[in-house]
Amino acid sequence: MERLNETSLLKIDEIVAAHRDERGPVIVMLHEVQDALGYVPFEAVLKIAEATGKSPADVLGVVEFYAGFTTAPKGKHIINVCLGTACYVKGSIKLAEEAVKVTGAELNSVSADGLFSVDATRCVGACGLAPVCIIDGRVIAQCTPQVVNAEIKKIMAEEKGTAAAD
Ligand code: FES
Repeated sequence: MERLNETSLLKIDEIVAAHRDERGPVIVMLHEVQDALGYVPFEAVLKIAEATGKSPADVLGVVEFYAGFTTAPKGKHIINVCLGTACYVKGSIKLAEEAVKVTGAELNSVSADGLFSVDATRCVGACGLAPVCIIDGRVIAQCTPQVVNAEIKKIMAEEKGTAAAD
Protein backbone atom coordinates (compact mmCIF):
# COMPACT_ATOMS: atom_id res chain seq x y z
CA MET A 1 0.00 0.00 0.00
CA GLU A 2 1.33 3.41 -0.98
CA ARG A 3 1.89 5.73 1.99
CA LEU A 4 -0.19 8.86 2.21
CA ASN A 5 1.65 12.15 2.07
CA GLU A 6 2.14 14.23 5.22
CA THR A 7 -0.43 16.86 4.20
CA SER A 8 -3.16 14.24 3.83
CA LEU A 9 -2.27 12.62 7.15
CA LEU A 10 -2.38 16.00 8.91
CA LYS A 11 -5.74 16.75 7.28
CA ILE A 12 -7.13 13.46 8.59
CA ASP A 13 -5.79 14.24 12.10
CA GLU A 14 -7.42 17.67 11.96
CA ILE A 15 -10.82 16.23 10.93
CA VAL A 16 -10.69 13.49 13.56
CA ALA A 17 -9.74 15.97 16.30
CA ALA A 18 -12.55 18.35 15.29
CA HIS A 19 -15.28 15.72 15.63
CA ARG A 20 -14.07 13.14 18.13
CA ASP A 21 -16.27 14.44 20.94
CA GLU A 22 -19.45 14.75 18.89
CA ARG A 23 -22.22 12.20 18.89
CA GLY A 24 -22.08 9.78 15.96
CA PRO A 25 -18.85 11.23 14.62
CA VAL A 26 -17.88 8.44 12.23
CA ILE A 27 -20.09 9.53 9.33
CA VAL A 28 -19.15 13.20 9.76
CA MET A 29 -15.44 12.34 9.79
CA LEU A 30 -15.79 10.07 6.77
CA HIS A 31 -17.65 12.77 4.82
CA GLU A 32 -15.02 15.35 5.59
CA VAL A 33 -12.17 13.03 4.67
CA GLN A 34 -13.92 12.10 1.43
CA ASP A 35 -14.44 15.80 0.60
CA ALA A 36 -10.89 16.80 1.51
CA LEU A 37 -9.01 13.94 -0.18
CA GLY A 38 -11.52 12.68 -2.74
CA TYR A 39 -11.58 9.24 -1.11
CA VAL A 40 -11.24 7.52 2.25
CA PRO A 41 -7.76 6.03 2.57
CA PHE A 42 -7.17 3.13 4.92
CA GLU A 43 -5.11 5.37 7.19
CA ALA A 44 -8.26 7.45 7.79
CA VAL A 45 -10.24 4.33 8.64
CA LEU A 46 -7.62 3.42 11.25
CA LYS A 47 -7.47 6.91 12.77
CA ILE A 48 -11.26 7.25 12.91
CA ALA A 49 -11.58 3.80 14.49
CA GLU A 50 -8.99 4.67 17.12
CA ALA A 51 -10.55 8.03 17.95
CA THR A 52 -14.09 6.70 18.24
CA GLY A 53 -13.38 3.38 19.96
CA LYS A 54 -14.76 1.40 17.01
CA SER A 55 -12.99 -1.41 15.23
CA PRO A 56 -11.51 -0.70 11.78
CA ALA A 57 -13.95 -3.31 10.43
CA ASP A 58 -16.90 -1.30 11.78
CA VAL A 59 -15.66 1.89 10.15
CA LEU A 60 -14.94 0.08 6.90
CA GLY A 61 -18.46 -1.34 7.07
CA VAL A 62 -19.85 2.21 7.07
CA VAL A 63 -17.61 3.16 4.15
CA GLU A 64 -18.81 0.20 2.14
CA PHE A 65 -22.47 0.70 3.03
CA TYR A 66 -22.74 4.24 1.67
CA ALA A 67 -22.29 4.66 -2.07
CA GLY A 68 -20.92 8.18 -1.56
CA PHE A 69 -17.70 6.90 -0.02
CA THR A 70 -14.87 5.37 -1.97
CA THR A 71 -11.65 3.76 -0.77
CA ALA A 72 -9.72 4.38 -3.97
CA PRO A 73 -8.59 7.72 -5.36
CA LYS A 74 -10.84 9.05 -8.10
CA GLY A 75 -9.96 10.92 -11.26
CA LYS A 76 -10.26 14.70 -11.31
CA HIS A 77 -13.37 14.36 -13.48
CA ILE A 78 -15.94 11.68 -12.79
CA ILE A 79 -18.04 10.07 -15.48
CA ASN A 80 -20.84 7.89 -14.14
CA VAL A 81 -22.77 5.81 -16.63
CA CYS A 82 -26.00 4.31 -15.36
CA LEU A 83 -26.19 0.63 -16.14
CA GLY A 84 -29.53 0.16 -14.39
CA THR A 85 -32.15 -1.75 -16.36
CA ALA A 86 -33.95 1.20 -17.98
CA CYS A 87 -30.69 2.77 -19.11
CA TYR A 88 -29.15 -0.53 -20.11
CA VAL A 89 -32.01 -1.44 -22.46
CA LYS A 90 -31.64 1.99 -24.04
CA GLY A 91 -28.00 1.30 -24.82
CA SER A 92 -26.10 2.84 -21.93
CA ILE A 93 -23.32 0.28 -22.32
CA LYS A 94 -22.38 2.15 -25.50
CA LEU A 95 -21.95 5.30 -23.40
CA ALA A 96 -19.61 3.44 -21.07
CA GLU A 97 -17.65 2.02 -24.02
CA GLU A 98 -17.27 5.48 -25.52
CA ALA A 99 -16.09 6.95 -22.21
CA VAL A 100 -13.57 4.12 -21.84
CA LYS A 101 -12.35 4.59 -25.41
CA VAL A 102 -11.90 8.37 -25.19
CA THR A 103 -10.38 8.56 -21.70
CA GLY A 104 -8.28 5.39 -21.85
CA ALA A 105 -9.60 4.42 -18.39
CA GLU A 106 -10.91 0.94 -17.73
CA LEU A 107 -14.50 0.76 -16.54
CA ASN A 108 -14.62 1.47 -12.79
CA SER A 109 -11.11 2.80 -12.70
CA VAL A 110 -9.04 5.92 -13.30
CA SER A 111 -7.25 6.98 -16.49
CA ALA A 112 -3.45 6.81 -16.44
CA ASP A 113 -3.19 10.61 -16.35
CA GLY A 114 -5.49 10.74 -13.31
CA LEU A 115 -7.92 13.03 -15.13
CA PHE A 116 -10.93 10.72 -15.46
CA SER A 117 -12.79 8.08 -13.51
CA VAL A 118 -15.26 6.07 -15.56
CA ASP A 119 -17.71 4.35 -13.26
CA ALA A 120 -20.77 2.24 -13.88
CA THR A 121 -23.59 3.02 -11.48
CA ARG A 122 -26.86 1.38 -10.57
CA CYS A 123 -30.14 3.17 -11.22
CA VAL A 124 -29.82 6.80 -10.22
CA GLY A 125 -33.59 7.29 -10.06
CA ALA A 126 -33.96 9.13 -13.34
CA CYS A 127 -35.22 6.27 -15.52
CA GLY A 128 -37.54 8.59 -17.44
CA LEU A 129 -34.41 10.28 -18.80
CA ALA A 130 -32.69 7.04 -19.86
CA PRO A 131 -30.03 6.49 -20.91
CA VAL A 132 -28.39 8.66 -18.30
CA CYS A 133 -24.78 9.72 -17.92
CA ILE A 134 -23.53 11.97 -15.12
CA ILE A 135 -20.39 13.95 -15.76
CA ASP A 136 -18.92 15.83 -12.80
CA GLY A 137 -22.34 15.75 -11.14
CA ARG A 138 -24.24 17.04 -14.18
CA VAL A 139 -26.99 14.70 -15.35
CA ILE A 140 -27.14 14.28 -19.11
CA ALA A 141 -30.52 12.91 -20.20
CA GLN A 142 -31.04 10.73 -23.30
CA CYS A 143 -27.30 10.65 -23.60
CA THR A 144 -25.57 9.33 -26.73
CA PRO A 145 -21.99 8.18 -27.38
CA GLN A 146 -21.52 11.35 -29.46
CA VAL A 147 -22.48 13.51 -26.49
CA VAL A 148 -20.14 11.55 -24.20
CA ASN A 149 -17.34 11.98 -26.71
CA ALA A 150 -17.96 15.74 -27.05
CA GLU A 151 -18.24 16.31 -23.30
CA ILE A 152 -15.00 14.47 -22.55
CA LYS A 153 -13.14 16.24 -25.34
CA LYS A 154 -14.39 19.56 -24.01
CA ILE A 155 -12.98 18.73 -20.58
CA MET A 156 -9.71 17.60 -22.14
CA ALA A 157 -9.43 20.89 -24.06
CA GLU A 158 -10.16 22.88 -20.88
CA GLU A 159 -7.54 20.87 -18.99
CA LYS A 160 -4.98 21.57 -21.72
CA GLY A 161 -5.81 25.26 -21.46
CA THR A 162 -5.36 25.14 -17.69
CA ALA A 163 -2.07 23.29 -18.02
CA ALA A 164 -0.80 25.82 -20.58
CA ALA A 165 -1.75 28.69 -18.27
CA ASP A 166 0.09 27.14 -15.28
S1 FES B 1 -31.90 2.74 -14.78
FE1 FES B 1 -30.74 4.48 -15.23
S2 FES B 1 -31.75 6.02 -14.12
FE2 FES B 1 -32.86 4.25 -13.62
